[in-house]
Amino acid sequence: MKNTILVTGGAGYIGSHTCIALHQAGYEIVVYDNLSNSSREAINRVSHLIDQPLTFIEGDIRDAKALRQVFDAHQFFGVIHFAGLKAVGESVAKPLLYYNNNVSGTITLLEVMAEYDVKNLVFSSSATVYGDPETLPIDETAPRSCTNPYGQSKLTVEHILEDLAVSDTSWSLISLRYFNPVGAHPSGQIGEDPNDIPNNLMPYISQVTVGKLEKLSIFGNDYPTVDGTGVRDFIHVTDLAQGHVSALNYLEQLTSSRSPSDMAKSVGFLPINLGTGKGTSVLELVNAFTEVTGRDIPYQFTGRRAGDIASCYASADKAKVLLGWYAKLSVAEMCADTWRWQSMNPNGY
Ligand code: NAD
Ligand code: WQD
Repeated sequence: MKNTILVTGGAGYIGSHTCIALHQAGYEIVVYDNLSNSSREAINRVSHLIDQPLTFIEGDIRDAKALRQVFDAHQFFGVIHFAGLKAVGESVAKPLLYYNNNVSGTITLLEVMAEYDVKNLVFSSSATVYGDPETLPIDETAPRSCTNPYGQSKLTVEHILEDLAVSDTSWSLISLRYFNPVGAHPSGQIGEDPNDIPNNLMPYISQVTVGKLEKLSIFGNDYPTVDGTGVRDFIHVTDLAQGHVSALNYLEQLTSSRSPSDMAKSVGFLPINLGTGKGTSVLELVNAFTEVTGRDIPYQFTGRRAGDIASCYASADKAKVLLGWYAKLSVAEMCADTWRWQSMNPNGY
């Protein structure tokens, strides 16, 4: 049996898939989530898929007292920290909510981790911290900037983690910068379940395909890209989940190193991109989805969406060299698994 991991936000889209990958890798998991953007049904389904009850505690990362109870009850090797709000538009309307939840919440979590001397963290960062990139593919040394409160909250947490690593070298703080997570578990049992009309492209496409939404609006066909539509680095959520296992394995190897000449047992602040390294245009994704499902996807071109950039894709070299991780699944598999989840669960959980 491997170490025990606290998974904040583990009932959410990426967290639920990561719980399965962690379980398969032999980790013990404790999920801590306030269910503000997820449901108990996700926990039930993960339990079913791993064939044993998933330890779940309903709670908020801003609640230090509740967190201490969790840390009192378990001996954690580390924390994977997914908990956060993620809607860019909502963050513009409610910046205080986003800074409170994502930044203050993370500070509270880090304070409790320090109290219990748990100093291994894997944080959910985002390619959004790169703003409008100057060069492509984007590597981890690229300049960072953000134009909306959601992005600022991720960037601010990264700055906090950097300062923390300088103040105390026993911390290992891996910041995984996800590109565009899509897809679902191949069972069709768990997937992305937006509360409202989706903001993101893939759930919008799948809801049009299933007939819940009438037509996709493609935001701009005049970008300097292969076909004029935006280009992104779509990554299958199960590949992403595996990236978290690789990050933890890396930290475990480091901390278990017994060689006297190798005294480094922590990584400080370590940013790593999780992407495929390949760009796919909006139109290419729509065509791939049509091909996989055999269904027509009505769409129209509309103006650009405020704040959007033309192209964004990762250099995935650092993850491969350091973690031995790389994305394996194709765009066709991303579409097929999204469609299985959407058609089996037309109304989500
Ligand atoms: P999600 O909303 O499905 O999952 C986040 C989970 O955190 C939810 O279950 C929610 O209930 C929980 N949560 C939120 N605030 C909390 C709080 N204060 N206390 C306890 N639990 C709380 O989102 P996701 O897509 O799974 O994203 C997970 C993380 O990855 C987020 O931090 C997000 O910002 C980041 N991220 C997501 C994407 C993406 O496109 N999905 C891209 C880059 C980064
Ligand atoms: C992708 C492309 C749109 C919807 C966002 C966040 C980012 C990260 C991932 C968390 C763009 C186009 C979209 C639609 C469209 N999240 N599009 N019609 O904007 O790359 O990234 O999610 O960290 O922070 O900003 O993803 O899926 O919204 O858009 O034409 O109805 O699809 O213009 O080119 P984005 P997205």
